[in-house]
Amino acid sequence: MATAELAGKHLVLGMTGGIACYKIAELTRLLTKAGATVQVVMTEAATQFITPVTMQALSGRPVYTSQWDARVPNNMAHIDLSREADAIVIAPASTDFLAKLAHGMADDLLSTLCVARDCPLLVVPAMNRQMWQNPATQRNVTQLRADGIEVLGPDSGPQACGEVGDGRMLEAAATYEAIASFFSPKILSGRRVLLTAGPTFEPLDPVRGITNRSSGKMGFALARAAQQAGAEVHLIAGPVALETPWGVFRQDVQTAQQMHDAVMRSVADADIFIGVAAVADWRVDHASEHKIKKTAERALPTFTFVENPDILAAVAKLPHPPFAVGFAAESGDLEVHGEEKRARKNVPLLIGNLGPLTFGLDDNEVILFEAGGATKLPRADKQTLARALIVEIARRLPDTSLIR
Ligand SMILES: Cc1cc2nc3c(=O)[nH]c(=O)nc-3n(C[C@H](O)[C@H](O)[C@H](O)COP(=O)(O)O)c2cc1C
Repeated sequence: MATAELAGKHLVLGMTGGIACYKIAELTRLLTKAGATVQVVMTEAATQFITPVTMQALSGRPVYTSQWDARVPNNMAHIDLSREADAIVIAPASTDFLAKLAHGMADDLLSTLCVARDCPLLVVPAMNRQMWQNPATQRNVTQLRADGIEVLGPDSGPQACGEVGDGRMLEAAATYEAIASFFSPKILSGRRVLLTAGPTFEPLDPVRGITNRSSGKMGFALARAAQQAGAEVHLIAGPVALETPWGVFRQDVQTAQQMHDAVMRSVADADIFIGVAAVADWRVDHASEHKIKKTAERALPTFTFVENPDILAAVAKLPHPPFAVGFAAESGDLEVHGEEKRARKNVPLLIGNLGPLTFGLDDNEVILFEAGGATKLPRADKQTLARALIVEIARRLPDTSLIR
């Protein structure tokens, strides 16, 4: 999450009666940390699962539970609360509440607020698998979608009741991601983005190998930003300890050759290719099949290296290449090497990490190299920078890629 990525957004967070209410404490924290203001409204049943006191403390605002609440000056909480809202999010959304929404019922504050809204409505269902599969619930969900209501989830897996199946609420982090994605402008809608991220690992023997200090953070941030911009995202990742961004298809590889082969298998479908991975230039020729032993009499091992395929150049050489974007990490003279590398690889855009190597850090500063010259983007955390880069990439897409 980037700092303040929901700054200026005001959400009404409606809670209904279900065990998953415990997840909303964490969701509220994530939303407020991202700069959103959160007005919690709870049904009577929701207050049986978590107290309004907890939700008030976490949201920093008084919680509303009744339409007869005299704290609202004109006594019309059901109208006033949603008027400032950028969206209403119902989480958890009970079976009962989905039914009420589908039928336009208005018999408590939260349901009345939803019927009287003039902003988008998102629901995050949470229920037992039989309740979710019930034909009435499925009918109601179909109706909600037809009415333009966003249905986020549900997830599948073990449930609080001990059963296993569809119906459990998305985790708080996934719900946050879906909400953040909802608010992102869909500048890559309908586009397919293929990315590589992280380091590669070139084996010396079954237990040792050569890798580099790439953390994968920039590539994963770009994958998340592209997904949020509406693209279908395929991320090919080297060995990294990062969670897959929400809604992104991820494929794990180890070596440069495997990364090359995975890219080549999928690139024909891509409108945009972004090569962020720090791919090893060389690998050991004939890595040992067995662990190389250290013995007193044995001489130090020697290795012969061979060149790995150049993934970016291979993509750029295709007869119908996608819009290809490269990344460069240099330990000096980026201004000189950046443009030279872009021209050599024959890609329209190359993004150079400015200053000392930024592997593993949360912040980055980059220069965009293209035929017309170089543009510097201000230093920012990698997620904010990723969003800015997606805007820059979207702006440069040739019209022809619209019809790939
Ligand atoms: C312990 C317990 C757990 C419940 N969990 C859920 C749940 O996860 N999902 C759901 O739809 N209903 C659940 N219910 C039932 C709802 O709380 C009940 O239908 C209630 O009327 C919903 O009211 P509301 O929609 O106004 O919040 C649960 C009930 C109890 C007693």
